Amino acid sequence: MLNEFKEIVKEKVKEIQQEVYLKDEILEKIVALFLSLKNDRFPGKKPPKGLLFYGPPGTGKTLLMKTLAKKLNLSDPIMIRGPEIISQYYGKSESRLRQIFALAKERAEEENLAIIFIDELDSLAPSRDLTKGELEPRLVGQLLSLMDGLEREISKGNVVVIGSTNRPEALDPALRRPGRFDLEIEFDPPDADQRKEILKILLNNYVKGRYENINLDEIADQTIGFTGADLLQLLNESLLQAVLKSRDFITQEDLLHAKNSVKPSALREFHIEKPRDRSNEIKDKEIIDRIMQVAEGFSRKPHFKPILLTHELLFSDKIASTIAFMVCQRLHCPYLVVRATWFRTRWFGEMERSIRKLFEKINRLQPCIVYIKNIDAIASFGNEHIHGAILELLDNLNNFSDNNTKVLLLCSTKDKDKLDQEIKTYLKELI
Ligand SMILES: Nc1ncnc2c1ncn2[C@@H]1O[C@H](COP(=O)(O)OP(=O)(O)O)[C@@H](O)[C@H]1O
Ligand SMILES: [Mg+2]
Repeated sequence: MLNEFKEIVKEKVKEIQQEVYLKDEILEKIVALFLSLKNDRFPGKKPPKGLLFYGPPGTGKTLLMKTLAKKLNLSDPIMIRGPEIISQYYGKSESRLRQIFALAKERAEEENLAIIFIDELDSLAPSRDLTKGELEPRLVGQLLSLMDGLEREISKGNVVVIGSTNRPEALDPALRRPGRFDLEIEFDPPDADQRKEILKILLNNYVKGRYENINLDEIADQTIGFTGADLLQLLNESLLQAVLKSRDFITQEDLLHAKNSVKPSALREFHIEKPRDRSNEIKDKEIIDRIMQVAEGFSRKPHFKPILLTHELLFSDKIASTIAFMVCQRLHCPYLVVRATWFRTRWFGEMERSIRKLFEKINRLQPCIVYIKNIDAIASFGNEHIHGAILELLDNLNNFSDNNTKVLLLCSTKDKDKLDQEIKTYLKELI
C-alpha cells in the first residue's frame, strides 16, 4: 500500500515537472501532502494548515499552484490577491476574507480538500509593527483567527491556505508560527543546470518544433540571474526576432541576440553590468599602473581580493569599470554593481537579510568582480541603525577571506576615515 502511494507520488512529480521545474525532493513532499489530504489519509494527526511559497517574482510560485491543482485533480483553488482585498473591497476587506473562508469550508466538507491561494500575502498581512495603516493590522488579526478557527469549525475535510510572497521577512511573524503557515517552500532563482531544465520545459510547451540547432548549455550559462519568467520572455523575444527575419523557427543566434534586451530580474537590485574601458578618462599614470596590476593579479589566479577606492565617487566608478573591463577580457566573468545606499531603504531588519542574500549571490557567481558603491552607507561607525548591517558585512567578509572565495571586491567611499575600524581591516588595500 505504502509502496503504491510512493509510486503514484513519483509519477505525479514527473507529470508536474513537464510544466514547472522544481527539485524532486520539494515536489515529492508537496505532492504527497496534497494527495493524502485529498484522499483523507494524512498520516499524522494535524496536517499543516498553511504553506508559504516564497522567493523572487517569476520563479514559478503561481504556476506550481495551478499545475498542482490540475495534475492532482484538486478542485480549483480559491484565488485572492492581497492588494485586491485591500483596495477593491476597501472597508469590506475583513468580511470578504470571512466569505472566502466560509466558501472554502463548504467545499472542504463536500470534496475533502479546499485550497485558498493568497498571492502577495505580504500586502495583506505585513508585520504589524511596521505598518502605519489601520486596516492591515486588522486584516492580519482576521486572517489569523480564521486560520485558527478552521479546526474547530470544520466537521469534515481540510482547508489549506497557500500564501505566496517575495518578501517573507515583511510578513507578520505571527503568521509563521506553528499552526499557521507551517510549511515554507523557498523558490530560488535557478542556477545554470536548473535554467537548462526550465528552458527545455518552455521550448517544449511554447515553441514545439519551431527551433533549430539550439545549444541549451550555452544559453543556460549565459543567462545568469534569469528567472523562469525571464527565460520565457527570452523565448518570446526570440520568436519575434525570427518573425522579423521571416523565419518560422528560432535559432541560437536569435536567443543570444534577444538576451541583450531581457534584463534578469533576480539581479535587478544588484545589477550585472557591462564594464567599459575608461582608462582614457583616468589619465593618472600611477593609478593606471595599479589598475593593471590588480586586474593582472586577479585574472591570473582568481582569489579573494578586497580593495577600497577612495577617490571622488564618479572617479572611483571609472576605476572600478576599467579594472572589471580588463579582468572580463580574460576571465569572462560577471561584473556586479551594488549601491550600498539601496540597503538603507529596506525595511527595518531587512538590511541584514539583504546583505546576506547579496553575499550568497556573489558566492554563487564566483569568480566575479563586485563593486559596492558608497560602502559607507552600511559601514560607517557611530550609527546605531546600521550596527546589524556592519556585523553581517563583517561575517561575510570573514567567510570570504577564510575560504578564499574568488571575488575581486571593489568598494568605494567618500570618506575612508568614517568607516568602521573592523571593516577597514578587510579593506586596507587602497586605490
Ligand atoms: N520553475 C519554473 N519552471 C517552469 N516555468 C517557469 C518557472 N518559473 C517561472 N516560469 C515561467 O514564468 C512564468 C511566470 O511565473 P509565475 O509562476 O507567475 O511566477 P511567480 O508566481 O513566482 O511570480 C510561468 O508561467 C512560467 O512560464
Ligand atoms: Mg505569482
